[in-house]
Amino acid sequence: MTAPAGDNKTPIVEFRGVTIRFGSFTAVSDLSFKVSVTPDQGEFVTIIGPSGCGKSTLLNAIAGFLKPTQGEALVMGEPVQGPGRDRGMIFQQYSSFPHLTVLQNVMFGLRLNRRKIGLDRSSMRSRAEELIAQVGLADHMHKYPGQLSGGQQQRTAIARSLALEPRILLMDEPFSALDEPTRLEMQELLVELWHRVHPTILCVTHSVAEAVYLGQRVWIFTQAPGQIAYDIMDCIPPSVGIPPLVAQERTEFKNAVYVVTEAFRRVSEGSTKDTAAESKPPEPRDST
Ligand SMILES: Nc1ncnc2c1ncn2[C@@H]1O[C@H](COP(=O)(O)OP(=O)(O)OP(=O)(O)O)[C@@H](O)[C@H]1O
Ligand SMILES: [Mg+2]
Repeated sequence: MTAPAGDNKTPIVEFRGVTIRFGSFTAVSDLSFKVSVTPDQGEFVTIIGPSGCGKSTLLNAIAGFLKPTQGEALVMGEPVQGPGRDRGMIFQQYSSFPHLTVLQNVMFGLRLNRRKIGLDRSSMRSRAEELIAQVGLADHMHKYPGQLSGGQQQRTAIARSLALEPRILLMDEPFSALDEPTRLEMQELLVELWHRVHPTILCVTHSVAEAVYLGQRVWIFTQAPGQIAYDIMDCIPPSVGIPPLVAQERTEFKNAVYVVTEAFRRVSEGSTKDTAAESKPPEPRDST
């Protein structure tokens, strides 16, 4: 797996005054932000906000599934024209091909992009097997999605996306259909993969604890039309190498959850009218 290229001056994702309307309904209004990459690491941004505030719409605009009504959505400095290999999308519902085995699902994307990736047949197969092992499915690679648990299906979707080495991974509530133990396992796997593979990740979740555990940066959206009310970074502790249940017991994690929960509460009550740049998250609680 390769790290993002060294150009850290151009944001990897940038919105400039993006408004998205569906008929007369405005889902996202005049949204501007930048997500940058450091020389060897993409950011991990988690996004929470009230239902219907435009989170999926935002991801769909980055993925190229829909175009802004006004403003510009840029990926690596270029306006998004449509979906591309540089962006992988993982949905809440499992999105693997039901008629293909785990191995065939992972090989599918590789095969489509074989020329661009520059791999011969046997290298493709080893790449696919390596990814399947990385997501813990080595013993299941010849099964079909219908023969897998929810967590295993979501691992397949992650492996399939990672096979293309996307610089940007877009995840829309990827673990919300999973039971709690599987969800915790997947959270740890994702943090570990992010640390190792270095993509930029934008991940929507409904869970504050999940947002704090996964992300380095948490965006809280306002009610529709969606705006970033809070962009919280400073108090989010690193979680690489720390299982979620261990992380959740730590004071800095609890403080971050408090800060994000309070900010989310304000947004849900509609009590923030500030713009993203002006908004300040609540102060962490004194833990002494
Ligand atoms: N294709 C569409 N046509 C009409 N309205 C749409 C369409 N897609 C989304 N909307 C509306 O835009 C708003 C934002 O939708 P979006 O799916 O982005 O919300 P969300 O923040 O992802 O919500 P949730 O947390 O429930 O998934 C919603 O009010 C939704 O009804
Ligand atoms: Mg959604």
